[in-house]
Parts: sequence; structure tokens; C-alpha cells
Amino acid sequence: MHTDTDLLEPQAKLPDAMMLVGEPILGEDEKAALAAVIDSGWITMGAQVRAFEQAFAGEHGVADAVAVNSCTAALHLIMEAFGIGPGDEVLVPSLTFVATVNSVLYAGARPVFVDIESAEVPILSLADAARKITANTKAVVIMHYGGYIADAEAWTDFARSFNLRLIEDSAHAVGAARGEIYGDAAAFSFFGNKNMTTAEGGMITARDPNTLDWMRQARGHGMTTGTTQRLRDGSISYDVTMLGYNYRMDELRAAIGLVQLSKLGRWISKRTALAKLYRSLLAEDCPSVLMPFEAWTTSTHHILPIVLPPEVEPRRIADELRARRIQTTNHYPPTHLFSWHGKLLPRARLPRTEDFAARELTLPLHPGLQEEDVRYVVRTLAESLDNK
Ligand SMILES: Cc1ncc(COP(=O)(O)O)c(C=O)c1O
Repeated sequence: MHTDTDLLEPQAKLPDAMMLVGEPILGEDEKAALAAVIDSGWITMGAQVRAFEQAFAGEHGVADAVAVNSCTAALHLIMEAFGIGPGDEVLVPSLTFVATVNSVLYAGARPVFVDIESAEVPILSLADAARKITANTKAVVIMHYGGYIADAEAWTDFARSFNLRLIEDSAHAVGAARGEIYGDAAAFSFFGNKNMTTAEGGMITARDPNTLDWMRQARGHGMTTGTTQRLRDGSISYDVTMLGYNYRMDELRAAIGLVQLSKLGRWISKRTALAKLYRSLLAEDCPSVLMPFEAWTTSTHHILPIVLPPEVEPRRIADELRARRIQTTNHYPPTHLFSWHGKLLPRARLPRTEDFAARELTLPLHPGLQEEDVRYVVRTLAESLDNK
């Protein structure tokens, strides 16, 4: 585990343990925050959750936010809030985590897979999205792959011209700069490998405050009051005015979230610097490798994806790096190729998604790494690429 002081460490550590693709940074501040919640005796849906929502909203330049227990829950609530259901179609990427697509299925609607733009820009293709619009299309979900924020103007124009809800799967975009959240609603993840973590957890933002209020009620079984409010105003009962869920966040997670949020800006600066170093070293030492999003200026640098040349077998590179104590992963196995989704949904043809996923490797990137670690990864990758 990395602690926050690792960021200040001048001397890089060469990996004696496996260098992981992503790692949370947790330490004494989080332990103290947890202890304070335990000592308070109030452990779920109280002042910490509300403070976390307000701090998150402030940090991201929006008016308010609703905390939930995962980004998956956030995406599901967004679908429900927009009345998306049976008979509706939602445009989705296949190059994403399966939760993006499943949230549409939970709502009883049909996900329609859209190809990526290119290997250089592996996010939803506007042209392919436009081709897949039908009379039943209600929404489009864009996923800010790797934290690279999809073009705000292009996507808001697209959604407006086809009268669609624009939903952002912002699981990778926690810490996006002010003004970079632009959809009708956005879902964020605090899973353990994300830019900041509450172990499990999620957050929702929405343009319309009434939509956000609806989701606030729906996350707690649709009850008209929660336990804190009943304690405060002395009421002993409540009504249920909608079909809701238990998607609540607890005080322990919110307390960790508040601590992590206060460090997020510094962590993203470190991620940005490491990603920049990767880009220049890869261009120099591994010219056959593509690092996507060269022209992009807006990113939270959640992951470090690279695309290998077609003649190189990713499994071999992954094995050789692993033998040198460097973990790599793949973002993502395309959802439309999963057995279950393949049986449920008509077979989609997404040649660019399939080609990208077959050649993509994700290299280690997190704020606990040092410049020397990045140099070691690129050097090792270059040697492995030369080992034909
Ligand atoms: C793109 C994307 N969407 C959704 C999710 C789901 O997030 P959670 O694990 O918080 O439900 C993730 C998490 O890995 C993700 O990467």
C-alpha cells in the first residue's frame, strides 16, 4: 500500500514488489476520519455524507451532488430518473466497464452499441452514434475513457439535435476541472482503483435540481424522510412515494471520501506529470506503440492505455513485463463480446472497438509512482518489444 508521503519521496523505489496498474493512497488521515465516525456513534447517512456531497460538488464546480454506494447504482438511478425503460434504446460504448451497459438493462431498456472513433481517440464515435439513432433512442451514454473528457460541444449539440438525454459515465473522470461536467447527469466512481476511493462508492450530479432531488429520495427506498431528518424534526413515521432502492452511502465511506477529496487535486497533478513523462519516453523508446489522445488537453489521467503494433502479441508483452514485476491490464474486454451480452443482444459489428481492445495494454499509473518507475516501465517495454 502507498501512503501520501510517497509523493514527497525524492528517491524512486525500483519495484521489489509488483508495480500495480493502480493503487489507492490511504493513511493516517483516513484512519483518523474513520475513528471519528466510529466515536460519534452515527454511522450511516448523516452529516459526513452531506458534507461529502457538498465538497464534491464544490470541487467539480456544480451546485449539488448525491452520494450513493457505487457508480453502478448512480448510473441505474440516472436511467430511472429520466424515465428510461422498456421499448427505449440507449446508445452506449462497448469499450467500457460492463456496468455502463448493465445500468441500461436494469432499467429494462435496450443498449445499442456504438463503435469508438479510432485507436487515437477511443471514445464514442459521433458518426456511428448518429447512424444508430432510431425513433426509440432516448439517451446516449458517453464514457470519458481514461479520464479524457469527451468533446463537450460536439456531444451537447448531438444530444440536442436528436432530443436525447446526455449521460456521462464519469467513473474515470473524478477530479475533472470545473466546467468539464456538461451532460444532463453524470455518474462517478470511488471504487478502490479510481482517482480517489471510498473502497466502494459513487456520486451523481445532474443539471436539473429536481432530477437530483428525485435521485436523493430514490437512493433511500423512496422514503419521504431519512433517519437523520426524523431525529431532527421528531417525526416518527414516513411515506414512500416511489419505487426506490437501497443505494445509500454510509458515514464511514463519506468520511474517507472527504479526506481523499482534499488531496485529489495534488494527486491529479502527479498523474498528469507522470502521463506526460510516459508520452515523451514512449515516443522516444517505443515509437511503434501508440499512446492515445495525443491532442487532448483535458484529462484526469485515470489510466495509462497504450496500443501495441498489430504484429506484437499482447500476452507475450504482458508476461514479460510481469516477470519484471510490472502489472499490466486490458481496458476493456468489449461488452458486446461477453457471452451473456452476446446471447441477449443482437450481434454488433464494432471493428474499431475490437481491434483496439485486442491490442491495448494498460501500464501502471498512480500518484504513488515516481519518475524512475515510469522510466523503468518504458525501458522494460522497449526491451520486450525488441525481443521478437
Ligand atoms: C467506466 C466505468 N463505469 C462504471 C463503473 C462502475 O463503478 P462502481 O464499481 O463504482 O460501480 C466503473 C468501475 O470500474 C467504470 O470503470
